[in-house]
Amino acid sequence: MSGRQDGRPNNPLFGPNRLKIGIFGTNGKGSAHTRVPGHYKPSWDNVLATARTADAAGYEAIVAYARWKGYVEGRPDHPGGIILDPYIFAAGVAQATSHAAVFATSHAPTIHPLLAAKQTATIDHVSNGRLALNVVAGWNKPELEMFGAPLKEHTERYEHLAEWLHVLRRLWTEVDEFDHAGAFFSIKRGMSMPKPLQLPCPPIMCAGSSEVGRRFAGEHADICFVLLQSEDPADWARQIDAYKSFAREEFGREIQVWTYAPVVQRDTLKEAQAYLDYFAVEHEDSESVDAWIAGAAQQSRGLDPEAMRRMRKNIAAGGGGTRLIGTADMITEQLAQLSEAGLDGILFTWVDFIDGLARFNAEILPQLENRGLRQPVRDLTTQTRETA
Ligand SMILES: Cc1cc2nc3c(=O)[nH]c(=O)nc-3n(C[C@H](O)[C@H](O)[C@H](O)COP(=O)(O)O)c2cc1C
Repeated sequence: MSGRQDGRPNNPLFGPNRLKIGIFGTNGKGSAHTRVPGHYKPSWDNVLATARTADAAGYEAIVAYARWKGYVEGRPDHPGGIILDPYIFAAGVAQATSHAAVFATSHAPTIHPLLAAKQTATIDHVSNGRLALNVVAGWNKPELEMFGAPLKEHTERYEHLAEWLHVLRRLWTEVDEFDHAGAFFSIKRGMSMPKPLQLPCPPIMCAGSSEVGRRFAGEHADICFVLLQSEDPADWARQIDAYKSFAREEFGREIQVWTYAPVVQRDTLKEAQAYLDYFAVEHEDSESVDAWIAGAAQQSRGLDPEAMRRMRKNIAAGGGGTRLIGTADMITEQLAQLSEAGLDGILFTWVDFIDGLARFNAEILPQLENRGLRQPVRDLTTQTRETA
């Protein structure tokens, strides 16, 4: 079919910047569990404003998460449950941007691979080859129960996800109709057209953190999305290297490792810490933190419950990601250390994305460019024009 691309030339995830950056969760309220006044809300105007700002500044990734129900039981109106559909979000954002990779996130138990193949191929066309897919096995029991699909036992979740992804990739790549008879899917004369533009197929990101999840990501993902479980750069290097070496040694694959970080940037460290306390302690959404910890402790094998209790402030600040707190200089230094530890990319969340992006782009982005971690955006646009 015409228009298919040799490789992934328009997808900046494979571009030259040493430290790639993106925004995470603007299809919902981001990742902070807070009731602070002025926190981000996923109105379509806000989605477009944040996506366009990130895109114009050369960010590589705009990543939607997938959530069907908030964490707080019996509270359908809780802000944590107001989430735009990640596929439709990705299509709309693709239309409004021209550079960044747009990520849909797919819960394998909630969508048939045929539908996922068709929708992702369509978004790849809308974006001219900038789609990426974050695949998750699902962990939050109440949301899967709404589908009448009980949460599978942990290992089986990943077996299901592997078969789901296998079928999806066949639909993305195979020209002829095919039959598939597996443990979870039965497909007769399966086909899907159009194919995605990217060859061999759009990139996959996976955020499994358990032993089984890590194995799955090493075998199947182009990008492993990890939570760094320490504040010590030496530990970061070990954790990141463990993912990369495992994929290389077990499966002969080169993968990227990304993480995500809530950012609090202010003119002084004191101000940044005061704001963190203000939104993550004083205005902590305790119900939501409690429910998240209880759900994650029960369902996931990746993080131990005691560590999660210690991380309470981290979780309120942004779901437990590596926090970037302080002045522009301090945050730049931390980002340089993360890159030095082997990190390929990082997704940011802010309590107020619009304010956060403005501060970051004005004061940190130029420093990342000066340090050679990123190319200036004008170079990027020149390059795109030259290769067009
Ligand atoms: C950065 C990051 C993003 C994630 N995004 C989602 C998501 O959008 N939807 C979801 O249900 N789970 C999401 N998860 C949860 C993971 O898919 C996974 O279930 C969790 O990390 C537990 O790992 P395990 O399944 O290997 O035990 C995310 C996890 C991380 C670390």
